[in-house]
This record gives sequence, C-alpha cells and structure tokens, in this order.
Amino acid sequence: MSIPEDIVQRIKELRDAIELHDYNYYMLDTPAIPDAEYDGLFRELQELERSHPQLVTLDSPTQRVGGSALKEFSQVFHRTPMLSLGNAFNVSEVEAFDRRVRQTLGLDNVEYAVEPKFDGLAISLCYVDGLLATGATRGDGYIGEDVTANLRTVKSIPLQLLGSPAGGRRPPRFMEVRGEVLMLKADFEKLNLQQRERKEKEFINPRNAAAGSLRQLDPAISANRKLTFYAYGIGISEEGEVPRDKHDHVLDYLASLRFLVARERGVVMGAAGLLDYHQRIGANRVSLPYDIDGTVYKVNSLVQQEKLGFVSRAPRFALAHKFPAQEASTELLDIGVQVGRTGALTPVARLKPVFVGGVTVTNATLHNEDEIKRKDVRIGDHVIVRRAGDVIPEIVAVQKEKRPPDAKPFVMRDDCPVCGSKAVRLPGEALTRCTGGLFCPAQRKQAILHFASRRAMNIDGLGEKLINQLVESALVRTPADLYRLGIAALATLERIADKSATNILKAIEKSKDTTLARFIYALGIRNVGETTAKDLARYFGGLDPMIAADVEALQQVPDIGPVVAESIADFLDERHNLEVIEQLRACGVRWKEGDGTCRAAIAHPESSDSLHASEIAGKTFVLTGALLNLAREGAKEKIEAAGGRVKGTVSKKTDYVVAGADPGSKYDKAVELGVTVLDEEGLLRLLGDL
Ligand code: IVH
Repeated sequence: MSIPEDIVQRIKELRDAIELHDYNYYMLDTPAIPDAEYDGLFRELQELERSHPQLVTLDSPTQRVGGSALKEFSQVFHRTPMLSLGNAFNVSEVEAFDRRVRQTLGLDNVEYAVEPKFDGLAISLCYVDGLLATGATRGDGYIGEDVTANLRTVKSIPLQLLGSPAGGRRPPRFMEVRGEVLMLKADFEKLNLQQRERKEKEFINPRNAAAGSLRQLDPAISANRKLTFYAYGIGISEEGEVPRDKHDHVLDYLASLRFLVARERGVVMGAAGLLDYHQRIGANRVSLPYDIDGTVYKVNSLVQQEKLGFVSRAPRFALAHKFPAQEASTELLDIGVQVGRTGALTPVARLKPVFVGGVTVTNATLHNEDEIKRKDVRIGDHVIVRRAGDVIPEIVAVQKEKRPPDAKPFVMRDDCPVCGSKAVRLPGEALTRCTGGLFCPAQRKQAILHFASRRAMNIDGLGEKLINQLVESALVRTPADLYRLGIAALATLERIADKSATNILKAIEKSKDTTLARFIYALGIRNVGETTAKDLARYFGGLDPMIAADVEALQQVPDIGPVVAESIADFLDERHNLEVIEQLRACGVRWKEGDGTCRAAIAHPESSDSLHASEIAGKTFVLTGALLNLAREGAKEKIEAAGGRVKGTVSKKTDYVVAGADPGSKYDKAVELGVTVLDEEGLLRLLGDL
C-alpha cells in the first residue's frame, strides 16, 4: 500500500523542525518555542512513525536513543589516521615550534589558528551523503571502537548534515568530522549530584564521566549522562563545499553545518600571538563551560600545512601547549585539624609533597567529617589531589587498589587542638566547632585576620605572620587593640624593622576612614558576607539602628532570612562584642551614616530623584549580555549607588533582568519566570540618566 504524499511530507517537516529546535536549544541556548510545543512536535512524529514504520530512518530525531545494549563494541578503521599532537610546556618550546615552522616555510611571520584543547575524548564521525554513518573512538589511531549508538544520543552531533540533498546544498559524498566528546562542567555537577542521591559512586572529573558514558554498552544509560561534541577539524572529505584554503574557514564551515566549535577560537600572528592567546585562555579557564588542558596551535594555511607534513605520529604544523596538570596522585601522610574564624574544625590532609597545578602542594582541604566518610579517605591512602586555578587544593578520590593494610580511618576529636575547649557538632550541622569563642587564640587570630583583610578594613601589610605574633604576645586580643598599638609595642616583636612598623601604623590609621558596609563585614558575624553587610548598611543607614533591631526587624531586610537574622542577633547580644564595637568607635573608626533606603524612599515620595530611587532601591537586578553605553561594571555601580542589588543568577525574587546585546541563558530564565526584562535604555531611564 502506498503512503500518502502528505504524510511523507509532514514527517519530513517535523524532522527538520525538531532538528532546528534541538540546535536552538542545545547549541545556541536560545529555544525558539516552549518545551510543551516541542514535545507536541516530537510526539506527533513518534505517532506517525509508529503507524508507518517503513518510513522510520536512522537519521530521524526519534532514533537518537535506539537499539539495545551491545555485548561489545566492534572495530572501525579510520580512513585518515587519528594522530596525536606534539606538546609544549613553556614559552621556549612554543618559540622553537614557531621557529621551525618559519624555517621550513621560508617565511618571517606565520598565521596560526588557535583553539582551546578540549579535555575529553577524541572522536571521528563519518557522514555518507550527509547522514551520520559511524562514530568511533580514536583507539590506537588507526582502528577505533564503534560507539555510534552512544554518539547518536549526543544532541550536538547532527544526524543529518544541513547541506543534505533534500536541503538543496550538496553535502560531501563522504566526510570525516574530527572532534572531542566531553561533559560540560554543569552536566558533570548534575550527574554527580544524582549519583550522590542514589548513593552511587561519584565521578572524579568530567573527563572520566565522559569516558564512562561513551563506553556504556547500553545507549539508554549513555543518553542519561549528557555528553557534548565539539568539532575541531575534518579528515578526508570527498566532493561538497569543504573549504580547502584555511583551517579557520574549515571551522566556520563546520559551524555552518550546525556542529559546535569552540567560541574561543581565533587567528593570530607569530609566537607572540600564540603566547598571548595561551595567557588569555589560561586566565579565563575557570569560566569556560568545559574543562580544557591547554591550547592548540595550527598553521592556518592548509597549503602550508601540507608543506610541513608529519613526523612519526604527529603533524609538524600543529602543537598542543599544555597547562600544568591539575590532578596528581600522592600519599596522605596524616590528617590534621585546623580551627577557623568561627571555630569550625576543618580536617586538613597532610600530603607527601606533590607538584600539581603549577605549585608544590603539601596540604589539601578535606572539608568535614562526613566528606571524609563519603570518600572513605584513610590515613596512609594514595589519593588524587586537585588544584584548579587559585582555589584551595582538595582530595578528589582515593585509589583504593593501592590501600595499605594498615591504613587508618579518621576520627574527629572532641576538643579544640588550639585552646583545648570542648568541640561539639550540633545536630543537623556538618561542622564540629570549638566552643572557646574569642578565648581561643586560633579564632582570635582568624577574626583579626578577617578584620584587617582587603575587603574588610583593608589594613595593608597586616598579614598572617604579624597577626600570629601580635596575638601570641598578647599585644592584640580584639580588633580594637590594633588601634592602640604604638611604635614601641611593635618594636618588641621579632623581625619588625622600624620602617615597616611605621608603615603598618600608617595603614592602621588610614583604615579608620571606612564605610558602614565594610565595618559590618569586618566584624566577622557568622553568615554575614560582603553582600549581606551591604544589604544591612543600605537598609539601616547607621550602626545604631542595626544594633537596636531584634530578630524580626532584621528579617525585614531584603534577602535576610531567619538563620542569618539569628546569627546577627546572637552576635549583637554578646556584651563583649558590643564593647569591642564601642572601643573601635572610641579609637576613631568612622564612616558616613545615611538614611536607610527603605526610609529614604518613604521620606520624599514626590521628588523625582526618589521616584527613580524607589524604583531601584531594594530591587534585585541581574545583568546579561553586552551593555553598549554602560560597561557591565558601571551599570552595577550605578544600580548599587541607587540602592539596588546586582546578583549573578535569575530567580523568582529577581525584579529586573537587564539584557544587553547577545544575552545568555539568564534572559531565557527571566522569560520563563516572568521577570521584567529591560534593555539598556530601560535601565538608563530607571536610573534617571535618560
Ligand atoms: S587537532 C593531528 N584540536 O588532543 C591531530 N586536537 O594529541 C589533530 N584535542 O586526543 C588534533 N582539543 O582529540 C586538535 N582543538 C583541538 C583539540 C585536540 C583536544 C585532542 C585530540 C587528541 C589530542 C591530540
């Protein structure tokens, strides 16, 4: 029985529409239709295919998760071998690479295409007449494993190329697309959260999680662990419009076929351009959505690439410039306990020194007792240490297969290792705390260190060593004592030269002129960070109204809930704390007091300034996209100056989202939650600047 033409046509329409919506949703992060509408299209397609099974083709979006679990993967021969890249770890190796390239080509300066080096797994996708035929791992470079069924579940891999015959443009008859499959950091966090909830083993890092998902024999499991594919090149291609001149054009072409390619790609000149790019990517590494382990440089001209050719298994025209490894294995020698500012006892791993993330690491945080239990860390274990960027190194996993028989479990102590006071763990809390309060020198030191820190009172030169000396010699017991220090007292300390003593006294003097928000933050009240301190200062306008407020009144402050209100009230109930505040004021610590924002808005309702102020005061803003007239920071300052708050994430409590050019997913979230969206002009109007 022949199938009516309109059904064939409708199926095609639905498939094209779903592919386009997948692209908008997964790749551009800008869904064009609501989820429910998308589900409707998908269901309609599923139903049509169910009643006309002869029309089901492998490139249909309904077939992404298909087939049953495999027994093993079969082998795939790569028509173009999947080679590796030569590595460079420092500036001189990069300069030597550029020198060799210039010499071989007989040029003074060479153009390079530059990209991040994705930390995932190399993949080759074969398209035949525009349809995905196979997807394979790299294997030994010549023969890989056929993981097509799993790769079909990856939404960023087109099942059908845009230029397929039906679409008008001619796709290559045959094409190998090369790239890397990885797990985005956000998807990794979600997966591990799910693993934790199900009491299943967590993955060490996104790369391990991606590898595990890709090699799942059951595509349904693979589909549940979201992977993403980034393309970085083309192997063999036959016919079609594949660019044959420059690598950056190849990447643009791949993007036009709806492959994801790194946004951070670029074209630079010479070794200086390469090093500058490496430095910039390194500085932005943490904010990328995926892990990278370096940058990749490729001679941009494909003709020049061919001239340069290959040595053994790596091209002479390309180089991987690696960042120092962020993970390393070492031995856990002991677990110590550190006392923090609020008395929290933090277990700290004492490690056999290991070079990781560019420095030698000997200590790593273990967070708390539960974390140690969860990871089953024992003294004597071999562990994997991670140091990403400037964050505190942490233990991510234990290599249990190497566990010595005498490895010892950790037991949290019930006294403070510094002052000997009782240490207690309250029900529902993860942390054990020293009950010594400011009697405990460790807490005292931390409290003063915090008080003097850059974002608090900003006392230049008053670092950890000096504070330790000051507290140990009993010259300083409370922050107020800092303002009573004289040159004679400082001179009694070891290794303090006259000149640095004078400088420190000057810095202490200078810190007296401060703001209310900084002062509140400097007090080190539990649960009161910088933002809350700013909220409090803005709301109360002065310190005395804040001291007078009870828990209920404190909860009136926008964004302050019962827990934070309780911490503030507890702190201000302590006579000792009030005394220190009074002493600080008596020593000359001062700030400008103003009207609290709530009262300011009520006080002058009809003046036009306060009209704007009341539109902004107490309101929460989120900024997304590029602002043309107000650079982001400027916008933030202006909003804050008018009494508003600027936050990083959109929630139901957000009052306005300000969307500049090319806004990100925050814009979508705003639309989804029905939050008012302003453009830049709208914000300027609200600020009274238009
Ligand atoms: S180009 C001839 N570009 O690095 C080799 N490779 O050692 C062409 N990799 O496992 C490779 N990001 O999968 C290239 N932007 C990038 C890359 C990249 C990661 C991986 C590649 C392979 C390894 C090469």
